[in-house]
Amino acid sequence: MKVLVIGSGGREHAIVEALSRSPKAPKIYAAPGNAGIAQLAECVAIKDTEVEKLVEFAKTNNIELTVVGPEASLAAGVVDAFRAEGLKIFGPTKAAAEIEASKDFAKRLMVKYDVPTAAYATFSDFEEALAYVRKGTLPTVLKYDGLAAGKGVVIATTMEEAEATLRDMLLDTKFGAGRVVIEEFLTGEEFSLMCFVAGNKVCPMPVAQDHKRAYDNDEGPNTGGMGAYTQLPFITEEDHAYAMEKIMQRVADAMVKEGTPFTGVLYGGLMKTPQGIKVIEFNARFGDPETEVVLPRLKSDAVDVFTAVACNEEPRAEWSDEATLGIVLASKGYPGSYDKGFVIRGTERVESKLYHMGTAMKDGELVTAGGRVMFVVASAPTLREAQAKAREDIAKIECENLFHRTDIGNKAFK
Ligand code: AMP
Ligand code: GLY
Repeated sequence: MKVLVIGSGGREHAIVEALSRSPKAPKIYAAPGNAGIAQLAECVAIKDTEVEKLVEFAKTNNIELTVVGPEASLAAGVVDAFRAEGLKIFGPTKAAAEIEASKDFAKRLMVKYDVPTAAYATFSDFEEALAYVRKGTLPTVLKYDGLAAGKGVVIATTMEEAEATLRDMLLDTKFGAGRVVIEEFLTGEEFSLMCFVAGNKVCPMPVAQDHKRAYDNDEGPNTGGMGAYTQLPFITEEDHAYAMEKIMQRVADAMVKEGTPFTGVLYGGLMKTPQGIKVIEFNARFGDPETEVVLPRLKSDAVDVFTAVACNEEPRAEWSDEATLGIVLASKGYPGSYDKGFVIRGTERVESKLYHMGTAMKDGELVTAGGRVMFVVASAPTLREAQAKAREDIAKIECENLFHRTDIGNKAFK
């Protein structure tokens, strides 16, 4: 069996690895892949948004299943293009991916179907938006309505900041002219609930918690994620049941009713507030870095799970009981500007899983090639043990230009 994975990050490395554990021993291709993925798959030099080339590759190589990682591929319509050619693909259509691409779409859907989320209003006019913010309370949450690579959310704590942000989002071309969703500020622990979804059939993955800020104690700028873990003690079985029924299943059903049934991974970015669990955002794909701590716990055959979803059949997945904890190694300066090309040594001594996020091979040596570079993921019976193992392994990696957070998982021990 031949399988193609689209993407080039740690998330795709984890997807490729899960597929490589399949008893079917599929031949795996990755487009474009990375230096870590290359150890498990054949990397082909096609970018994740080169839809026509991806279709062509899948056809000429008799690819039986394609799995999409990045949102950029979904937004480029890769699923629609594959389906139009009768090719089996795991991921939502462009129309269904609107749940991530448009905050306004997601909000309207949630209000219509009574899915718990922060109160909000959408504006395209600067003066109207400003008047609304002035009437409300601080902090206020300002979200650019469109794909902004995780950079489109500002939590303004002063009126000056709110006004400047609205100017940026609505008057300047910095983000591109657009709309702004203004939201009520919520408080509570955040967590990610990813589900395999095939129309109205929904199968949950273990919940995970991401760490978005660059530095310890959640300080510094927002990043793509600096670490994650599974086994969240503050999410009870009741919480989980509530989130599945009132949020994930309800949204899957809503998408079917709206004529845009969802297939793939529906990612709920949720918050446990004093008023109950509420939606912060939806993504239409596997989360990064959550996927790298979740898929190692998949006991079922990943080929079967992905194929079921792609064929609109009931996805079934079994998970191990262990805890997982991952720490990201990022280039100094990230998420701002950073230099590349620093040699990385000691990876062969790492006993945990090591997912490549932004690496390259240069003159036979592994070098840094991105903002987030590597992700060390440890598994153990308890979270404490997983944290200790991940810390031990990260200390083995030598590179002069990398940094990491030392407090990943601590929120579970509060
Ligand atoms: P998003 O891109 O929508 O996930 O937002 C990025 C981050 O901003 C989230 O992970 C939250 O930490 C924070 N955030 C977003 N919306 C809210 C809200 N309504 N209240 C409090 N924090 C929020
Ligand atoms: N970890 C957040 C995301 O994948 O968007």
